[in-house]
Amino acid sequence: MAAVLPLARLPRTCQTRLTGSQMLKTHYCGDLRKEHVGQEVTVAGWVHRRRDHGGLIFIDLRDRRGLVQVVFHPDDAPETHEIAGDVRSEFVLSVTGEVAARKEGTENSDMPTGEIEVRARKLEVLNEAKTPPFPINEETEVEELLRLRYRYLDLRRERMQRNLRLRDKTTIFIRKFLHERDFTEIETPILTNSTPEGARDYLVPSRMQPGSFYALPQSPQQYKQLLMVAGVERYFQIARCARDEDLRADRQPDFTQLDLEMSFATEEDVLSLFEELFSGLVEDVRPDLKYVSPFPRITYEESMRRFGTDKPDLRYGMELFDISDLAGSSEFGVFRNAVESGGAVEGICVPGGTEFSRKDIDSLTTFVQGLGAKGLVSIGILGQPGSLDEEGIRSPVAKYLALDLVEAAAKRSDAKQGDLLLLVAGEGGKPKLEPGSSSRVRPSLDGLRREVAARLKLADPQMLHYAFITEFPLVEWDEDEERWDALHHLFVAPMEEDLHYFETDPGRIRSRAYDTICNGEELGSGSVRIYRREMLERVLHMLGMDDAEAQKRYGHMLEAFEYGAPPHAGFAPGIDRIVAQLAQEEDIREVIAFPKTKSGAEPMTGAPFAVTEEQLRVLGISVVKQPE
Ligand code: AMO
Repeated sequence: MAAVLPLARLPRTCQTRLTGSQMLKTHYCGDLRKEHVGQEVTVAGWVHRRRDHGGLIFIDLRDRRGLVQVVFHPDDAPETHEIAGDVRSEFVLSVTGEVAARKEGTENSDMPTGEIEVRARKLEVLNEAKTPPFPINEETEVEELLRLRYRYLDLRRERMQRNLRLRDKTTIFIRKFLHERDFTEIETPILTNSTPEGARDYLVPSRMQPGSFYALPQSPQQYKQLLMVAGVERYFQIARCARDEDLRADRQPDFTQLDLEMSFATEEDVLSLFEELFSGLVEDVRPDLKYVSPFPRITYEESMRRFGTDKPDLRYGMELFDISDLAGSSEFGVFRNAVESGGAVEGICVPGGTEFSRKDIDSLTTFVQGLGAKGLVSIGILGQPGSLDEEGIRSPVAKYLALDLVEAAAKRSDAKQGDLLLLVAGEGGKPKLEPGSSSRVRPSLDGLRREVAARLKLADPQMLHYAFITEFPLVEWDEDEERWDALHHLFVAPMEEDLHYFETDPGRIRSRAYDTICNGEELGSGSVRIYRREMLERVLHMLGMDDAEAQKRYGHMLEAFEYGAPPHAGFAPGIDRIVAQLAQEEDIREVIAFPKTKSGAEPMTGAPFAVTEEQLRVLGISVVKQPE
């Protein structure tokens, strides 16, 4: 059966594509409504569910736009009814029949098509299906490996269909938004030279130059800067990137960035553009979610001080407070030793936290120890801050704690009666921008803050709290290699006023880099760039590269900067992370059609795969067996 799809009945987006084509359906299942009653239609899709009701057979038929109930009556069309008796879940059917109003009392208000049904006159089984390895018609938990092995079935499920559409809407919005602002989308190569972004490269051997390799792009960083030298002025790309790094919920070996670069632009131009883009995007694709406007801008130093991290979740308070200045003279050895060794004593105040049991606090202690803290000191504020006495405090180390220290801590954390102070003391670490703070105190308090917020459900799940973090350090000390390393990448411009630290104290140089964060996750980073040869050379030297090496690795950039490179700035948020948040998914794999497992495998196709001796020979490669 082939019928021409009546174009007028289709949503606008489909019309152009279907012009002149022959389709096996006249309507989408999910589109049928009361106004179609009396019309003969042909629908086609998958058997979502089948129920036999003493003679009557009901099939919920599913297609990309939803479900419709099809009824097979033994008296209406006996042959069709008989075929319907044999179909199973996920068979592919084409059904012709009349749209009828459901009998009173049998309507289903949970289904958009719940007021009608299709009375089948004709049924064609377009294809049969084996019993799927997991149910397609319900949102059950299915083991990850099985889902990925049968991803084409997993993607049939409603949640995944919804996520794929949301991703599409997101990129449509982004393209339109940027084209309206005169940006040009330009593709850059997939086979390229190495652009280090801090991860290992995926290498691709060259057959024509045996022993030489391409790298898959970790990002199009160098190309986009070269496009600025090329006079493009406003570039963007929905760019595929690949990085060989340890995988997590927010990392895939290949992923997608919205890569963007602007000439003659400063931080402010880029940040305000992206504030507008993110706000518009939420309003367009998830108008039911909330966001905070304007986006807060927080310097790196302030973010570390207030939250212990450069990607704080701003949906709740519990900011860090610091009592290192007072703890140094405390009778409590743990506090005193930490401060004397150049470390710190900092904490958070948990609202209503005196409700926590001993067991709760023990598990939080184990939790922070897992993050590198030596321990956790808890102080329950039972009394009224300002007039605390011994009865007003509950702490396993109460006898070592002077009341005025607790009062000061309560004041600095704005604690109320019933709150709980959780403190971490840490030995001195390598001073960075915040001298005196130990290296493990803040990361463990960041983790603790997130953990407590999760336990107390403090974060509003309907809120997207975007913010920009600015003025990152330019470099960080690499303990293993014993040298300075770029915190973001090599092309980030340093702040003018910190240039004098280049020779004396590189760790104090602030950069013109910025990140976008949302709900405690990094969504993207960017910066104002270096665009002069001398500055790039200066940075490369600081990172320990001599002229010969700098020329070998970055000669093309050094040279390009000598031909009238304009000042420029850019940004690159991760599309997978943006979409996952909009879809309210925890893991970016839920918004990627064909993602990889945590070990980098693709269970459906079997990638990565072993190649033949012949393939290796042609490439001049031999594989060395790794010891077990
Ligand atoms: P950066 O390395 O910070 O910056 O990456 C930018 C954004 O890309 C996303 N991202 C990833 N997403 C999923 N899986 C991964 N493995 C992965 N790695 C990165 C994140 C991240 O914030 N060229 C610079 C940007 C610039 O300066 O313009 C860059 O790539 O969302």
